[in-house]
Amino acid sequence: MIVIKELSIPGYKKVIEAKDPECGLHSFIAIHDSSLGPALGGVRIYPYLTDEEALTDVLRLAQAMTSKSAIAGCGTGGGKSVIIADQNTKTEELLRAFGAVVNSLGGDYIAAEDVGSTPEDMSIIRQATPFVSALPTVTSSGDPSRFTAWGTLRGMQAAAQHLWGSSSLKNKSILIQGLGNVGSKLASFLFWEGANLLIAEQDPQKALKEAALYGAQIIDAKDIYSTPCDIFSPCAMGGIITKEIIPELKCHIIAGSANNQLLSEDLGIDLMDRKILYAPDYIINAGGLINATSEFDPNGYDAKVVREKVEHIYDTLLTLFNEAKENHRPTTEIAEEMAHHYLDHLIGKREHPIKWAS
Ligand code: NAI
Repeated sequence: MIVIKELSIPGYKKVIEAKDPECGLHSFIAIHDSSLGPALGGVRIYPYLTDEEALTDVLRLAQAMTSKSAIAGCGTGGGKSVIIADQNTKTEELLRAFGAVVNSLGGDYIAAEDVGSTPEDMSIIRQATPFVSALPTVTSSGDPSRFTAWGTLRGMQAAAQHLWGSSSLKNKSILIQGLGNVGSKLASFLFWEGANLLIAEQDPQKALKEAALYGAQIIDAKDIYSTPCDIFSPCAMGGIITKEIIPELKCHIIAGSANNQLLSEDLGIDLMDRKILYAPDYIINAGGLINATSEFDPNGYDAKVVREKVEHIYDTLLTLFNEAKENHRPTTEIAEEMAHHYLDHLIGKREHPIKWAS
């Protein structure tokens, strides 16, 4: 039997903890804000060591989804879920039980793929609830990572334009941390842009394969942050930019897809003081969300329309970088203000409810 407990967390619309001892489900779903539409966010399946760690992660990720969706104009709110489990040992039973929990929220939270979950997992969750996006079907939006990678590339180009007066990345040294779904596609785009790639990937086989594909230099884990490069692109896990790491960094720009790259948002000030231009993660990595929410477009999903929408990341970031420079303020603060502006004025609020097939 599934037991659902509501947790009272200030600043969040709804947070629940769900357990089903029979299949081993232990999950949290956080709905941060729904003022622009129902909350949509990925299902992260990860072997968190403690409940607190899982709860902290889901809360931070849900909050970032609110800002991401607002600035990208997706007509959705901020939400996220985590399942405390190893992605290699998750079962269909567990995913279906999780689907039942999503269903109990009546469409206030829409599940999507994230670290540790796959489009196939979404199909299993779909057996218990209609409130799922990015299913592996031809009418669905499919793998979001190609749009996340494209948006990240466009964000890097905006940063290059701002800092060096040209959006060209030719001959720039770019260190990508994490060559997974997003990182590997980004590496491919950057290779054809003429960039010199450095890669840090914890899976040695993957690192060798990607390095050979792009003539890239493999960077040892211990040297990731101290290696000189033009752009550092975190595309693995979040929380990697810490107060201790910042003095080590020898890059001019940080522009990557990972969520919550800064351990805390105030580190935006430290980065500004070190003259490192930081592209706020929830703006540069919005391509995947833009893709997933385009499934709900009244005319149906169209990849070319999504490409157009993702292009806006370039202009959004360029505007933000200019504003940060003019006012000598960190990019993180300007991003936060932008998100509040959209939310306070309900800009981009979903006009028509999403139509769900039962
Ligand atoms: P993924 O799981 O496919 O790839 C992550 C890669 O990073 C894996 O190859 C893993 O071996 C590697 N890795 C993990 N820790 C590492 C470390 N300490 N050093 C070096 N390599 C490490 O994940 P995906 O989908 O590529 O996402 C990457 C990041 O971007 C995540 O933080 C995710 O939340 C974020 N993101 C992804 C989106 C998407 O469309 N897939 C959308 C928005 C954000």
